Amino acid sequence: MNYRHSYHAGNFADLVKHGLLLWLLGRVARDERRLLVVDTHAGSGLYDLGEGAVRSKEAQAGIARLMSAPRLPNELAALKEAVQARNGGKDEVRWYPGSPLLIADSLRKGDLYVACELRPEEHDLLAERLKGREGVETRQADGYEVVRAVAPAERRRLVLIDPPFERPDDYLRCAETAGALMKQDPDTVIAIWLPIKDMETFDGFLRRLAGAGVKRALAAEVRLRPLTNPMQMNGCAMVLVNPPEGAQAAAQAICEWTAIALGEPGGRGEAWWT
Ligand SMILES: C[S@@+](CC[C@H](N)C(=O)[O-])C[C@H]1O[C@@H](n2cnc3c(N)ncnc32)[C@H](O)[C@@H]1O
Repeated sequence: MNYRHSYHAGNFADLVKHGLLLWLLGRVARDERRLLVVDTHAGSGLYDLGEGAVRSKEAQAGIARLMSAPRLPNELAALKEAVQARNGGKDEVRWYPGSPLLIADSLRKGDLYVACELRPEEHDLLAERLKGREGVETRQADGYEVVRAVAPAERRRLVLIDPPFERPDDYLRCAETAGALMKQDPDTVIAIWLPIKDMETFDGFLRRLAGAGVKRALAAEVRLRPLTNPMQMNGCAMVLVNPPEGAQAAAQAICEWTAIALGEPGGRGEAWWT
């Protein structure tokens, strides 16, 4: 396992993932039932993007541009506010919050959050950053296994699956996990983040998902550029299973803004049902 999210924190793909995550958290919180949120691949929770010349280039092309954008869709306003809150209220970004802090800050009293991180050093940082939060638990464990084992009981369940995709079986495990969770509780809301290098791999994943029993999902897709070079990450997608009403319009707004504001000619952002 070589992947370190700190090299990529605050890039365009994080903006799509975290913008949609905050939208989902806001919507499921309208439900009277308490929530169980599970983050299968949590990372360390908070990222130092550096200052001045040492600032991360990916973040410079991502969150730094979002913070200084003259116009943002309403659906990205919550992410901007969350980042400002970590940076003394300023638009100048040094600290970028990962999914654990975004989720933990959104919990209501009585909600539960389980954050899984396999790598011991990342887990130690995560545990430190979430220390003392009510209803929050971290596990240094395989998130695909933990999420099937923590029972939602009477709770509404929201699951974020955000693997590094450095292992070829991540696609298979994501699809199988989503299928198993929907069998346990068809009301579960699942968000799966994926890189887009070429269309074959993405299509193959959607077929696997259908094969695992998830026939319908919302694909929120951003292509920064035409998919002519499969050796680089040309875009990303969040595949939403059982999302709340209004998800397609929200995802469309987030994806379109990202592709137009941060992409190259020939890029595009779209949200469509499989
Ligand atoms: C893309 S990063 C997560 C970023 C985080 N979700 C966020 O949005 O801030 C993926 C993380 O998963 C961890 N990881 C890899 N395989 C895992 C597994 N099977 N279970 C739990 N964590 C895993 C990696 O160490 C890495 O920190």
